[in-house]
Amino acid sequence: ANGSGLKGRHILITAGPTHEPIDPVRYIANRSSGKQGFAIAAAAARAGARVTLVAGPVHLPTPPGVDRVDVETARQMMTAVEAALPADAAIMVAAVADWRTDAAAGQKLKKDGSGKPAPLTLVENPDILATLGRHAQRPALLVGFAAETEKLAEHAQAKLARKGADWIVANDVSGDVMGGDDNSVHIITAQGVESWDHLPKDAVAARLIEKVAHALASRSD
Ligand code: C5P
Repeated sequence: ANGSGLKGRHILITAGPTHEPIDPVRYIANRSSGKQGFAIAAAAARAGARVTLVAGPVHLPTPPGVDRVDVETARQMMTAVEAALPADAAIMVAAVADWRTDAAAGQKLKKDGSGKPAPLTLVENPDILATLGRHAQRPALLVGFAAETEKLAEHAQAKLARKGADWIVANDVSGDVMGGDDNSVHIITAQGVESWDHLPKDAVAARLIEKVAHALASRSD
């Protein structure tokens, strides 16, 4: 239902992949479509929140009533997220690239004719969720996602502690979830694991936003 459960709240959401440039024409990316994050942003706006959606490169329309900030790289996403604080809740749905090249080449890389592997050095990107987990302006409710292909609950449980998040929404991406319209999720909290039915991403979004509204209401005013 379209209530006003999040009226007066600021909800910060990341969505989509990031692109990490290798040279002027190539980049490192992943298969994230941004659909789940955009659906959550839409649901939060419908629930009356002020919504900041920091989006990586995706081909999706901006949901009604959502403030969208487009970024390309993980470092740009980190900057945009910090600039959007404070927020009552942050839901980090983006599939942020774990690595970038140490320095993007200024010119298109060329084969040198030797048949040797190209010299690509990867360095770790900032972890946006973990940074928020220990931030001076940490949102009261911090939600991460975990795309796993095996040992779902176990990996997600470990992520909860490591990232300093309140909830981890774990989804099994061994099938065709990335780019698809449905999602099968488990919500991992300090209280345990809640497994939801296989649902359309819009329904997962509506249910998650209902849970966020409930949690924020029980924490303050
Ligand atoms: O460690 P892993 O990438 O599996 O963690 C996924 C969660 O962490 C997601 O919520 C994702 O948005 C967030 N994340 C992030 N910054 C990164 C890597 C992941 O915010 N560099």
